[in-house]
Amino acid sequence: YHCLSSNNGGGGFKPEEKEDPHIKRSDFPPGFLFGTASSAYQIEGAYLEDAKSLSNWDVFCHSVGCGENGENGDIADDHYHRFLEDIEMMHSLGVKAYRFSISWARILPKGRFGDVNPAGILFYNKLIDNLILKGIEPFVTIFHDDFPQELEDRYGSWLNPEMKEDFVHMVEVCFKSFGDRVKHWITINEPNIVASYAYETGVFPPSRCSEPFGNCLDGNSDVEPLVVMHNMLLAHGMAAKLYHDKFQRKQGGSIGITVHCYMFEPLTDTELDRNAVERAFAFNVGWPLDPIIFGDYPEEMREYLGSELPSFSLDEKNLVKNSIDFIGINHYSTLYAKDCTNSSCSATADRAIQGFVELVGERDGVPIGDVTMVDEFYVVPRGMEEIVNYIKIRYDNKPMFITENGYSSPDVQDERINKLVNDVKRIRYHTSYLASLAKSIRGGADVRGYFVWSLMDNYEWLQGYKVRFGLHHVDRQKLMRTPKLSARWYKNFLTNTSDLI
Ligand code: NOJ
Repeated sequence: YHCLSSNNGGGGFKPEEKEDPHIKRSDFPPGFLFGTASSAYQIEGAYLEDAKSLSNWDVFCHSVGCGENGENGDIADDHYHRFLEDIEMMHSLGVKAYRFSISWARILPKGRFGDVNPAGILFYNKLIDNLILKGIEPFVTIFHDDFPQELEDRYGSWLNPEMKEDFVHMVEVCFKSFGDRVKHWITINEPNIVASYAYETGVFPPSRCSEPFGNCLDGNSDVEPLVVMHNMLLAHGMAAKLYHDKFQRKQGGSIGITVHCYMFEPLTDTELDRNAVERAFAFNVGWPLDPIIFGDYPEEMREYLGSELPSFSLDEKNLVKNSIDFIGINHYSTLYAKDCTNSSCSATADRAIQGFVELVGERDGVPIGDVTMVDEFYVVPRGMEEIVNYIKIRYDNKPMFITENGYSSPDVQDERINKLVNDVKRIRYHTSYLASLAKSIRGGADVRGYFVWSLMDNYEWLQGYKVRFGLHHVDRQKLMRTPKLSARWYKNFLTNTSDLI
């Protein structure tokens, strides 16, 4: 029963991959890092304090209203004022690492067109110092969705190659200010999501989208997400080069990038859908990672997109190629891939930029796994082992960190705290995904750490506060933090005490 077998069949939890209460800390290598993850806009609040400027997300949420009831991140979890308490929570869990992001608008309110804000530097210095004091290693994401609105207003942010200059300026300030203590840097969080949500579906600022999506402020072509990714990859390459050439030897850390990685399975057992799976990987995972490891976009992308896909010059190839020390994987879910070259698909899928692949969560009306509170996130534990193995093979077992994995329950209509903290399903999610991860490691995958998304309930971009990913409950009135059952589980797991459940 506990010998989990890899299975590609679909249909949610297989009986044999149900929660494995026997997954233990000792199933992972001794130096393996366990942590929790967060991002600045989602937890900090204090959106105008101490000379911080407005970010793209501040402006977006104030204008169209994000989340339900026009919620926004103005206050979020008020982590800016409560970070000591939050570090205490992590310490009590026994985690040895914490992944957070730096608010660009707090450090450089006007980007490279103004000064460094000393109050911003001071905040992150205090955060980092107190983490280290508690034996918690900081993993720092430099760009996690939010940047000074100034850069949007002046030149259109990531659509413009100028953004690279601002990004390099930002990373240099970060390396200089914090690099003596920060040993793991993540340049960009989920560039594949930023490019498609902000420039294809238009649901993230600056709300630009391609034709089949009707919710944008400004229609555009399919080219924009491709250009945006290209600029992000070059910016990442420049940042990594700066780190490798000027900082790494002295500071002794490493640098990577984090990509959103679904696992894909064929919708039907046909060659067409199996090919669709390969294209789904190319157009989602390979899109950012192939250039970063091999120096160019996947062949399938060139084949389908032709000259719409930007090209790297020889110098740019050399800049981007081999530019990371580790791959950050955000993994939550698995989807089915359906071929659109030979059968009819929705208008949003039946396009070159999607590789003519439709991604769906159901087969014959049966969801691939238990549904969660986030669209397109299903509980499919086998996907963890499978995505890690896929990335291991595609990128020659480059060191990997699971920089995010987490669960938001659909049962949140009931807002009573005693219900919300009794989060048995979250424990089940983590134990089953961890068991799957442990299998990939036993099979030789070089995975070095795992971060739960998230330490506490926080602001979930478009869905606001009703989506709760936290190990700790945060009540929206007093912002009081309460450990959920899952926090007790994680603590027991990490400290190797007897099983709670
Ligand atoms: C990925 C993103 O990095 C994070 O910001 C988000 O909250 C989680 N996924 C959950 O959707």
